[in-house]
Amino acid sequence: MAVFDPQEAASAAAWLSAGLGEFSDRSVLVTGGTGSFGSRFVRTLLERASPRRVIVFSRDEFKQYEMQQSLPAEWLPRLRFFIGDVRDRGRLDLAMREVDLCIHAAALKHVPTAEYNPMECIHTNVYGAENVVHAAIRNGVRRVIALSTDKAANPINLYGASKLASDKIFIAANNLSGSVGTRFSVVRYGNVVGSRGSVVPYFRKLIAEGADSLPITDERMTRFWITLQRGVEFVVSCAALMRGGEIFVPKIPSMRIVDLARTMAPHLPQRVVGIRPGEKLHEVMITEDDSRQTVELCDRYVIEPAFSWWKHEPYVELGARTVPDGFRYASDSNDLWLEGEELTSLLAETA
Ligand SMILES: NC(=O)c1ccc[n+]([C@@H]2O[C@H](COP(=O)([O-])OP(=O)(O)OC[C@H]3O[C@@H](n4cnc5c(N)ncnc54)[C@H](OP(=O)(O)O)[C@@H]3O)[C@@H](O)[C@H]2O)c1
Repeated sequence: MAVFDPQEAASAAAWLSAGLGEFSDRSVLVTGGTGSFGSRFVRTLLERASPRRVIVFSRDEFKQYEMQQSLPAEWLPRLRFFIGDVRDRGRLDLAMREVDLCIHAAALKHVPTAEYNPMECIHTNVYGAENVVHAAIRNGVRRVIALSTDKAANPINLYGASKLASDKIFIAANNLSGSVGTRFSVVRYGNVVGSRGSVVPYFRKLIAEGADSLPITDERMTRFWITLQRGVEFVVSCAALMRGGEIFVPKIPSMRIVDLARTMAPHLPQRVVGIRPGEKLHEVMITEDDSRQTVELCDRYVIEPAFSWWKHEPYVELGARTVPDGFRYASDSNDLWLEGEELTSLLAETA
């Protein structure tokens, strides 16, 4: 566990550096290692930590080939590209031999895809989670972090519901690991600015094509935003802090969709097209009910497990603050907002 001064801003940097240390000389497996998160995570580890071995686990050989081509040749001896599907427990079992840490990022993540193909979403996001748990315990993996999303809090679509089920599977997995001692935690965050299929590349495409207006689903809509690098560093820091069974939620800013459209195309009018099925007006990361188990550190919230049959040491004993009664962490009532210059520079980072 990292040096811990829960309300000191300097702790965030200390946790990141302790997190990088956790990966030093370790064997690490990343499911979904070719995805937006996975590939940035692998780069960050190889640049800033010194893992013994990094296994990229995913299905599509071409994405793996492209990733291999894009990385410096001197990193390749420490990399393994493992073709496999998280639906295939036997394959995961083989991939996890002698692995110390596992980051589970593989998922189907598009809301309409999940609605149209519900069982495909459940097979990957829910049964896949169960398979990761089994393979990790069988192989004595020390720590597993699963990625989740704001859509899993009070879900209104199947993608969110499948990630909520996945969160529950990982948290309860701490009850199963017994003397093997594998610890499982979850990281939940909001939209990654510029990720594939998100609004920023969509607006960029419309602007490049000479659109005469930008579509806005609802003028009131707000979202949480995080950059890919901040998301990766947050996950790394959680590897140092995790005790098992928590959901870590970073403190990140919100943005109004109308401000985003105005910043990206000040010359274009905005056209309201109506909220899409399965979409929320505002995203929530911590519901009022979750807040009863939530504590606050300088740069994050931690939702502690509501049920734990394993020995769980509460964060308050280490000096973390509980959040006020009725607290809710939502994109419309956030204290941090992205506007003006800050928004412009964030967009430049993702160009
Ligand atoms: N992007 C966001 O805005 C955002 C926000 C919050 C949370 N998250 C969460 O962060 C995680 C990573 O997201 P991302 O943006 O990196 O997604 P992504 O770019 O779509 O990458 C998904 C990765 O998972 C792999 N994959 C998909 N199905 C698989 C399966 N059945 N077995 C093995 N690998 C599989 C994909 O490769 P193959 O297709 O080759 O298998 C790819 O490597 C997800 O859990 C997502 O829910 C994302």
